Amino acid sequence: MMDIVLYIHILAATVWIGGSVFLFALGVFLRDKEAQKRVYFYVGPIYGYVESVWLTVLIITGLWMFYDFGLDKVFFNEKIEDLASVLQYKLIFVALITVATVVHMYIAFKTNGKDRTNLQKILSRASSMAIFLLNLVILWYAIQLRNFL
Ligand code: HEM
Repeated sequence: MMDIVLYIHILAATVWIGGSVFLFALGVFLRDKEAQKRVYFYVGPIYGYVESVWLTVLIITGLWMFYDFGLDKVFFNEKIEDLASVLQYKLIFVALITVATVVHMYIAFKTNGKDRTNLQKILSRASSMAIFLLNLVILWYAIQLRNFL
């Protein structure tokens, strides 16, 4: 059973990270402002819904493994300091990426197809950069975690 949960977790990670890398690349390489506006207008909302489903799947399957593997019992255990801190880091970064996603989606849905204020632009870009970078860090901690299990 837990093999299936891990499978779904890794599948969700590939979709979630793959999507964020792709949209990030689109922002960087699609320089034509009009084309960019049109692409984001149509693709943005679909992408937003799809990605939030997969992030939820990641969190649910992650927590499922967390409790099933008894990791809740080692989370604050100083004797298994390395495992505990890898878990703590991963969860802190997951919390941060969730916040960045909520900020990003809030602005995206509120302003889709409209002009943005400077603050909205900055927050939107900063949160998408944060999501992109945090994913790379989370992936690293996910692998470190594997080394202990
Ligand atoms: C953005 C969110 C997340 C991403 C991208 C992510 C990514 C991954 C990846 C790629 C693996 C496989 C690592 C490997 O097998 O080498 C993994 C494993 C794991 N994740 Fe996550 N994860 C996320 C959120 C969570 C959350 C919220 C938890 C729960 C508290 C969690 C708990 C676990 C556990 C326990 C494993 C180890 C399973 C095993 O190796 O047997 N993950 N994660």
